[in-house]
Amino acid sequence: MNVTFRQLKVFESVARQLSYTQAANELHLTQPAVSMQIKQLEDATGIALFEQLGKKIYLTPAGQEMYHYCRGIEQQMKELENVLEDIKGVKRGHLAISVASTANYFATRLLAAFAKEHAGISFSLDVTNRATLLRQLANNEKDLVIMGQPPEALDLVTEAFMENPLVVIAPPDHGLARQPNLNIAQLKNETFVVRESGSGTRIAMERFFSEQGVQLHTGMEMTSNEAIKQAVEAGLGLGIVSIHTLPLELETKRLVILKVKDFPILRHWYVVHRRGKRLSPVAQAFRQFVLERAGEFTITAPL
Ligand code: PGA
Repeated sequence: MNVTFRQLKVFESVARQLSYTQAANELHLTQPAVSMQIKQLEDATGIALFEQLGKKIYLTPAGQEMYHYCRGIEQQMKELENVLEDIKGVKRGHLAISVASTANYFATRLLAAFAKEHAGISFSLDVTNRATLLRQLANNEKDLVIMGQPPEALDLVTEAFMENPLVVIAPPDHGLARQPNLNIAQLKNETFVVRESGSGTRIAMERFFSEQGVQLHTGMEMTSNEAIKQAVEAGLGLGIVSIHTLPLELETKRLVILKVKDFPILRHWYVVHRRGKRLSPVAQAFRQFVLERAGEFTITAPL
């Protein structure tokens, strides 16, 4: 059945008023234009929709069915219009974001603050390591990604919004804990508990030490910052983590930051998406929110 919205609109008006003249006035059309649309609709459906008895027109049974469905369609179009307006105004929609596991220490607070201002929006948050984020970007799986140094190999729109200092952590009773001016060479004899090889923290740490010409002694490998902190606390070695992961442990004095020359390793957080991606209104609003307000929702330990 090949009917157009325009034909349905004209039909609805004629059927409601049972008058070609009144429909023509209402729709600012000529009466022959209205008759033509109805004729085309009857041709397309293959059945008469009106019958004329004397001067009056009536709906045929098929016309009554058509009228019933037309009103449903009209109602749905109105609803669709409202929904689209809501989406444009960021009153509803869905936001799928992915963040580096280290960024999750502030990303959930950011999301919560954004959600408060946009009550109709639903969210999905994937917390994963750098290697998975890169795959998700390559496959265009997420609206936005929050990560450390973005790769140059992918064509991305990236914007830095906050510093991400990496520090050396130790338990408070460690021999180096009270020394004010450590140099990197003094770390050579220590064992380090490190993140898994797909982690941005791990990559940054390895690059830093290789630039310094220092070969680190790495012990256990762990897939989360929480595990690293626990391991360091338990005396399994030193660790290198983002300052964003530490406020609680520093406050409760379960860990300390070692004062090592050339530290912290200074990195940044970026909000990232593929170039050419059409960001939804909610994704645009969240990106703006991150760029302007991330600092407000981030607790950082003093260095
Ligand atoms: P990650 O952090 O170590 O949790 O992957 C991301 C990054 O710092 O790039």
